[in-house]
Amino acid sequence: MSSSSTENIEVSSGGNISVEDSKRKVILVTGGSGLVGHGIRAVVERENKLDDETYIFLSSQDADLRDYQQTRALFEKYHPTHVIHLAAYVGGLYKNLAEPANFYNYNISINQNIVQLSHEFKVQKLVSCLSTCIFPDKTSYPIDETMIHNGPPHPSNFAYAYAKRMLDVQNKAYNVQYGCKFTSIIPTNVYGPHDNFHLEESHVIPGLIHRFFLAKQNGQDMTIWSV
Ligand SMILES: NC(=O)c1ccc[n+]([C@@H]2O[C@H](COP(=O)([O-])OP(=O)(O)OC[C@H]3O[C@@H](n4cnc5c(N)ncnc54)[C@H](OP(=O)(O)O)[C@@H]3O)[C@@H](O)[C@H]2O)c1
Repeated sequence: MSSSSTENIEVSSGGNISVEDSKRKVILVTGGSGLVGHGIRAVVERENKLDDETYIFLSSQDADLRDYQQTRALFEKYHPTHVIHLAAYVGGLYKNLAEPANFYNYNISINQNIVQLSHEFKVQKLVSCLSTCIFPDKTSYPIDETMIHNGPPHPSNFAYAYAKRMLDVQNKAYNVQYGCKFTSIIPTNVYGPHDNFHLEESHVIPGLIHRFFLAKQNGQDMTIWSV
């Protein structure tokens, strides 16, 4: 779980950000307390961000992004010029099978709020995260971004997949109607420090790492499911 909002926020000027400063770049990173958010934060710190850039790394303690008013309050506080949207209700196979309604509703709400508010606050660029697991279950390889909507996703994570696919639809709709520069990237398996290593709720690679660790520690064999 995340740390407090104060620890998650880097604001060079301190406190609220003045909307008058037209040269500033305020980059709001939703999901900043997660695996990918920590990765971006490490790169920003290592590469020495530019003087006119302020990165703000958010967690769910700063606002529940499913809630429009809480999300709007964040935009009013920071007036972001750019948004990197990582926050999502995520989980492994078990969780996807058990909670499809939550996966659909939570992600649709989070994404709707971020996209709409990015439009309302004239964000110059919004980059959101999709996922390779949203591609059609039956497809040809190699896959590319033109193939996202070419058939149903795998039934195990259909609700998460359709919610994520709608982000691609929203990006296009806001571009056509308002000229917004909203786009998305599609990472494959991501793993590393700050990952979720929970034995039942993690993604495949951190789950395997944890099982290998336990098997080695206990001198036992381990079993891997295959389909
Ligand atoms: N990990 C992968 O292998 C992978 C692969 C492809 C795509 N992606 C995508 O990449 C993005 C980042 O993934 P990740 O692995 O870094 O996720 P993660 O480690 O599970 O982090 C999820 C982040 O979302 C935040 N969050 C969740 N619900 C929220 C809510 N209602 N309001 C505000 N914040 C909320 C969490 O905040 P708290 O820390 O406060 O809970 C956390 O910062 C996601 O969009 C995911 O779909 C990930």
